[in-house]
Amino acid sequence: MTQTELESAVGEVLIDEPTLQTRIAELGDEISSDYAGKDLLLVGVLKGAVFFMADLMRSLTVPCEVDFMAISSYGAETDSSGVVRILKDLDIPLQGRDVLVVEDIVDSGLTLSYLMRNLRARDPASLEVCALLTKPDRREIEVPVKYVGFEIPNRFVIGYGLDYAERYRNLRYVGVLNEEIVP
Ligand code: IMP
Repeated sequence: MTQTELESAVGEVLIDEPTLQTRIAELGDEISSDYAGKDLLLVGVLKGAVFFMADLMRSLTVPCEVDFMAISSYGAETDSSGVVRILKDLDIPLQGRDVLVVEDIVDSGLTLSYLMRNLRARDPASLEVCALLTKPDRREIEVPVKYVGFEIPNRFVIGYGLDYAERYRNLRYVGVLNEEIVP
């Protein structure tokens, strides 16, 4: 795929690279001050959160560890059912740890809500969420997100970790999917 083909998937740039990086640095400052003297463990959900995690973690000035889990949704392919299966679990035990879940996007909130219930049962000292993007209009279940990068409208977005059919994660910005390429 050429750069032009990659970019033709984008209908409109929603959040450009400098805007993303500035906001991530702000989140890093806020999280570093909130977790000073704590035992921070960042938990990412594969695969979308990898790109945000890499930049966010490098913007932190407090000691921290990282771990990842992989999950898959049961039910309809496009809309989240909220019932998830753990494909790869965490390596690090959560008991007594200050855990921050790092998410790419919270849409209906169903996946995150299930995940939070699962992680809370492992008895962490604290459990919070940092999401790069959230679509408040799509929320079906209340889920507290302490740190939010950007609130976005109800559009399907790609880039900076977010995919459409596993592609376009490598765009450096967040763009709205060009509906003309959808089969
Ligand atoms: P939820 O359970 O509806 O909140 O779904 C969250 C998951 O759906 C995210 O972690 C993404 O993998 C996926 N998702 C939701 N909206 C988008 C989008 O606009 N672009 C790409 N993936 C999305």
